[in-house]
Amino acid sequence: MSNKPKESGVEYAELKYKDKVIKLPIVIGTEGEVGIDIAELRKTTGMVTVDPSFLNTAVCYSKITYVDGENGILHYRGVSVDELVKNHRFVETAYLLLRGKLPKADQSKRFSKLLNEHSLLHEDMRHFFDRFPRAAHPMQIMSTMFDALSTFYPNVDALSMREDIDICAARLISTFRTMAAFAYKRSIGEPVVYPRSDLPYCANFLHMMFSSPVNPYEINPEVVKILNTLLILHADHEQNCSTTAVRTVGSAQVNLYSTISAGISALSGPLHGGANQAVIDMLKRIVKDGDVKKYIDKAKDKNSSFRLMGFGHRVYKTFDPRAVIIKKACHDFLATMNINDPLLEVAMHLEEVALKDDYFVSRNLYPNVDFYSGIIYRAIGIPENMFTVMFALARMPGWIAHWKEMISSQTKITRPRQIYVGKTMKHEK
Ligand code: CMC
Repeated sequence: MSNKPKESGVEYAELKYKDKVIKLPIVIGTEGEVGIDIAELRKTTGMVTVDPSFLNTAVCYSKITYVDGENGILHYRGVSVDELVKNHRFVETAYLLLRGKLPKADQSKRFSKLLNEHSLLHEDMRHFFDRFPRAAHPMQIMSTMFDALSTFYPNVDALSMREDIDICAARLISTFRTMAAFAYKRSIGEPVVYPRSDLPYCANFLHMMFSSPVNPYEINPEVVKILNTLLILHADHEQNCSTTAVRTVGSAQVNLYSTISAGISALSGPLHGGANQAVIDMLKRIVKDGDVKKYIDKAKDKNSSFRLMGFGHRVYKTFDPRAVIIKKACHDFLATMNINDPLLEVAMHLEEVALKDDYFVSRNLYPNVDFYSGIIYRAIGIPENMFTVMFALARMPGWIAHWKEMISSQTKITRPRQIYVGKTMKHEK
């Protein structure tokens, strides 16, 4: 069933070309966003619209997440992220994204049980981890492993998913966590640690990451709390690059696991989820150099490809609400854990200088979700090459929710047009 809102029938935008006036229907979203529906334009005029990198294109109608980039507002299914961080856990947020409503106590319990039941990876797949080079980046391992999941569960297509979406979503969310911890353990040459059914989601992840046969990890509720906060804030962000990859690949009716694998690959890029690792690399270099200004100047220099990592956003033209929450949480968490990280001081200095600099002010460049998150991950003990994996772990419910929405509301394969500007065909005389 299409998610398209009813057209008012009276509001149109008019497009004038040569001697023709074309009427284009106006669509209005529930938060008042106004769009021009151009879907029939080519059929009626032969013309297409051109918008490389989708700077101005809404690719779907969605009921999942709302972002107001001008006012710094973010909500999932009508519930603000502040409210979710204050009063809910990641697993409840995942349920909200997938089902549209926050779970009642018994529903939450059942969902957590389902996650536990599907937390084990097929044992044959565990051996795959032994064959990657030790230095392999965990994001590449994760996308490969997810694609490999489709060979174990080959029938997870749009049709079968309608029947067992809950099990499948649970398997995706839960096994990603198990695989992420396995990839880490493998990278440090330790035996993998299996999930425990008595532990809730975040605590279970910390157990798999940090327990060893000689040293069981003692679960700290403060660490569990901050992990819940970070995962909630990364759980969805409407039509970002990786979600668009998921919706696009999924529209060809590709197996869900392979579809998610495409999302993981998209997220790994430094302009997207990979930015959280790049921020820490940058902050470390600044600490070593002791010269914030040099990096600000480099970011402004049009002859340099350097960018201030963790700054700027396609949608937010003010503070990213996630960054605001994470910055405060970062301060509080480091104070609680009695950790003094010099990177936090440099990050704050960098932010202060950038926010007074006309280059950043005039372009509306503010810290984004990735600017402070890595400092928290460091404090938890998560290594830098796992930061983007943490982002992917959090984004899993969002990707699945979008896939689910896409297969139930969109019947056509995603297939943009282009304007050809290459050589014209030579005709033999
Ligand atoms: N440092 C320096 N200049 C910047 C930055 C930055 N971080 N971000 C944007 N600009 C400049 C850019 O050079 C351009 O200047 P001009 O108008 O003179 O050509 C202007 O600001 C607009 O930038 P844009 O590249 O057209 O903006 P975009 O919407 O295409 O890109 C972005 C958004 C996030 C890719 C970009 O801001 C960026 O590369 N940021 C650094 C990487 C980063 O932190 N990525 C994480 C994004 S948030 C998490 C997620 O959802 O993935």
